[in-house]
Amino acid sequence: MKNNQSDISQRANYFILVFFLAAFTVSSALAQQDPTGIFLTWKEDPLTTMVVDWHLEASTAEVLHVSEKGSGTWAPHTSHVHPFPHSERYIHRVALSGLKPGTSYSIKFGKRDKVYYFNTMPADISKEAIRIAIGGDSMHDQAFMEKTNSQVAKYDPHFAVIGGDLAYANGDPKNVKRWYQWFDAVKNTLIREDGRIIPLVLGIGNHEVRKGVFEEGEEIVYNDENRAKMAPFYYGLFAFPGQPGYGVLDFGKYFSFFLLDSDHSNPIIGPQTDWFKRELAVRDDVTQIITMHHVPAYPSVRDFNGTTQARVREHWLPLIEKAGVKLVFENHDHAYKRTFPIKNNQVDKDGVVYIGDGSWGTTPREVHDPATTWYLDKAISVRAFTLVTLQGSAYNILSIDEDGNVIDSYPPNPLIK
Ligand SMILES: [Fe+2]
Repeated sequence: MKNNQSDISQRANYFILVFFLAAFTVSSALAQQDPTGIFLTWKEDPLTTMVVDWHLEASTAEVLHVSEKGSGTWAPHTSHVHPFPHSERYIHRVALSGLKPGTSYSIKFGKRDKVYYFNTMPADISKEAIRIAIGGDSMHDQAFMEKTNSQVAKYDPHFAVIGGDLAYANGDPKNVKRWYQWFDAVKNTLIREDGRIIPLVLGIGNHEVRKGVFEEGEEIVYNDENRAKMAPFYYGLFAFPGQPGYGVLDFGKYFSFFLLDSDHSNPIIGPQTDWFKRELAVRDDVTQIITMHHVPAYPSVRDFNGTTQARVREHWLPLIEKAGVKLVFENHDHAYKRTFPIKNNQVDKDGVVYIGDGSWGTTPREVHDPATTWYLDKAISVRAFTLVTLQGSAYNILSIDEDGNVIDSYPPNPLIK
């Protein structure tokens, strides 16, 4: 009898041990599992800050470990937890500030061993150029987006910009999986092999808002609460631009980047245009300014006389021309285009060049024929993005298709190569 009891107790101890070993193995495997989403952007000064997001199913705050690359000293930063809209997931966010310009920082998420890193933007670009990958309309299909992303990553840009129509979820809770795919595409292909995470700056397009259409009329109030209802994912997921959906990032005094909302969750006419006018006026001393909006003033596919196209031309272009902006990025048409320099709605060598037209990860559409369209220097039905290089007051652009072919460059004799 005693022997039996001792056998039973030995067996029980054995099972308890196996149970705890299994539980430990599962929990450490879970602890090592990569976050479901990893996303870096800026809300403020890109020289000294970075907003780091990682997505988990757990709502308990985690620690982001941050180290100036190579220093060996890690500082802990506890995450602020935000709900991922219409999902079981949570956004863990740390807004880092007080960083050094032009510096690499290693990061680790929670208890995971894997080390990633990011770079802050340089303090000065008079001697060394910066590269920005710009495009729009990123995900008809995850495979399309990943293919273009892979070309973007090969050029090792300092950051990338997508100017609206991100996941094509139309602000609809039923489409939350499209956002999971979008973040998968970012994680799979916008983190370089050496662990560098490419930060993203995101504009708003019609497919960020409910039903993909602008809610317009005297009864509509455009405030934080209503915009969050119009575009729940866009406003719920991303630190920048956040409310009110348009904004400007200042890179010291060498570069300012404006993101505008072309009649999606903010009307073109009214407070946004007033803000745009004021903010351009106080940036007289900024060396280079680029602006971006979703609906093209000079469309490669759509009707030139469309309502939104005409509003952009009427209300924004005079301000852009007056501020001496050289490059404007447009989207929405799902093709590649570059216009001639344009001023006062005619070709003018001192004018603004419009580049677009939102074909990062969409099915390309048939384009207007440049031979018979006065403003188009180039238009191609293709998936592509544009690499902008800035140095001092000089710029050049190189447009690259999803297969890595260079399909366009401008200006013809760039000061920087
Ligand atoms: Fe669009």
